[in-house]
Parts: sequence; structure tokens; C-alpha cells
Amino acid sequence: MLRQALLAASRSSGVRRVVETAPYSRSVVRRFVAGETAADVLTTTDRLVSDGLLVTIDHLGEDTVEAVQAKAITAEYERLLERLAEAGYGPRAEVSVKLTALGQLLDDGERTALENARRVCAAARQANTTVTLDMEDHTTVDSTLRILKELRQDFPDTGAVIQAYLRRAEEYCADLAHEGSRVRLCKGAYNAPDSVAFTGKDAVDRSYVRCMRVLMAGRGYPMLATHDPRLIEIAGALAVLNERASDSFEYQMLYGIRPNEQRRLTELGGQVRVYLPYGQEWYGYLMRRLAERPANVGFFLRSLASR
Ligand code: FDA
Repeated sequence: MLRQALLAASRSSGVRRVVETAPYSRSVVRRFVAGETAADVLTTTDRLVSDGLLVTIDHLGEDTVEAVQAKAITAEYERLLERLAEAGYGPRAEVSVKLTALGQLLDDGERTALENARRVCAAARQANTTVTLDMEDHTTVDSTLRILKELRQDFPDTGAVIQAYLRRAEEYCADLAHEGSRVRLCKGAYNAPDSVAFTGKDAVDRSYVRCMRVLMAGRGYPMLATHDPRLIEIAGALAVLNERASDSFEYQMLYGIRPNEQRRLTELGGQVRVYLPYGQEWYGYLMRRLAERPANVGFFLRSLASR
């Protein structure tokens, strides 16, 4: 119930105004977001990379409604990638991109988002790194997979994301588990109807395990994005079972969530990539994080009340 309400609120401009203008929202947000500027995110990237972690940087923003805004976000990614090239992190710091931020929902949006994504991929290549296409609301999945296919013709290392809550997730994973294919597997963070998605936690977890089996047995590069201790343990077991070297897959977690576990896995020799968002458009991202975990709602409300 709370999850549904928070996900609905993530699309509500009224709630958005209240949360954004609450006096202490920003300081709470800093737990999950690197800051508002490229300089902020580069400082945090530096710290994480020095700690032996990998990073994927997300410029916050989604559901762009004007072409000019989509161009501006594309340019922001290009500038960020220039700075990553100067810093010389290579594949240790890549970027994650939401196609709706690059114009996917505009008239002729698929073409616009593809063009913009090509520019981001070209800048990433210059920085010797990669791009992963975040997966968003279920209504965008087919279009995102089509754009991925196009992009991979020129940029074969472009990463895909599959959401285990989708009923078709296992089938998508089987299609993508081929040589050179980078695939992030996550549970899925949006509201989706019963007809397209599993809604119960157990059903989603079981789907995650089935998808992980397919990806870990396949020839691609799995990126296992979860904080769930049970799933992380199963991932380790599947790596042994499939005789996967520790550099042939990676764990991924969100910035600010289970940082001790991120370090523990790294110390055990695993590769861990931290999803690191920055920018002013933090509202939708924050609401999805709150929806995932009631404890975060308590933390947020307590912070608002106590300062
Ligand atoms: P879940 O939320 O079910 O939590 C399972 C368990 O993990 C909990 O019971 C607890 O033990 C532990 N846990 C979770 N949060 C914790 C916390 N704050 N502190 C301590 N323990 C905690 N979604 C999407 O739709 N499209 C996308 O492109 C992406 N991309 C993405 C990238 C990366 C790197 C990650 C990690 C996640 C995404 N997601 C995403 C979000 C994803 O779909 C999902 O909503 C969240 O990861 C939460 O799901 P978990 O797998 O962590 O399990």
C-alpha cells in the first residue's frame, strides 16, 4: 500500500512541490545523491574509486517534455564524460542514462532519444568507458530495447537493464545473454499492472533468481543490481557453479545503501559498482527509494521533524 502511494506520489506535481520546498529535504537527499553539480559527483566518484569501487553516474532527470531540455541533458552528459576522460578512470566510472530524459516521450521520441543516446555513447567511447540504459516504466520497455539494439550496432558495449518484476524478464535475459552483452538485472522500481509484472515480493524474488541463472550461465557480462542479502548469496553460489571469474560479472548497489556490504564484497575480491546520481531533479529518484523501504520513509520524516 505504502509502496503504491509513494510511487503514485513520485508522479504528483503537488506532492513534489511540498517535498522539494520542505526546509531540510536537501540534507536528507544527500544520503542518496552525490550533490547537484558535476563537480560534486566527480569528488564522490574519486572517493569511491579510491576505495576500490566502480561507479555508474546518473544525471538525475526523467520524463523530459521539450526537445531543448533533452538536448541540454545530452550536453550535460557529454561534458561530464569529457571530465571523466580527463580524470582517466576508464571503465571504472561509466554513466547510466534514462532515455525519457533524452526525449523518448516526445513526438518522434524514439528517434530523438536514439540520436541523443548516440552522442552520449560517442563521448563515453572517447573516455574509454561505457553507457548503460536504465529501464523505466513498463510502457517504455519495448522502445528502450529497440533503441538498445540500434545503439549496439555501433556501440556493442552499451549496457541493458532488465527488471525481474516483468513477467517477460526471463525471456529478455535469454535474448541478451550473449557474448559481449552487458546486462544489469534489478527487481524493478516502478508501478506496473498485474498483467505485465509480478506484484508480490516472493514472485519477484523468484523471477530474479531465474533471470540470474540465465545470465550467469550465459556468455555475457551480468551486472547484479540488488541489496538483497539472499540474492547476493545466490549470486555468489551461481558464480562458483558456472566457474565465473570474479572479473566476469559485477554486483551493483545504489549510493548510500548498504555501503558496508559494498566494501565487504570488494574485500572478498568481487567487483562492486555504485550507482551514483547527481543533479537538481532528485524528486522522482528519492520517492522510488522511499517506496522500496519503509525504514527510509521513517528516516526521511524524522529528519524533517528533528531539524
Ligand atoms: P529490496 O528492496 O526488496 O530489498 C531486499 C533486502 O535488501 C531488504 O530486505 C534488506 O535486507 C536489504 N536492503 C534493501 N535496502 C536496504 C537499505 N536501505 N539498508 C539496508 N538493507 C537494505 N530499477 C529500475 O526499475 N530500473 C533501473 O534501471 C534500475 N537501476 C538500478 C541500478 C542499481 C545499481 C540498483 C541497485 C538498483 C536499480 N534499480 C532500478 C532499482 C531496483 O529495481 C530496486 O527497486 C532496488 O534495487 C531495490 O531492490 P533490492 O533488490 O535492493 O531489494
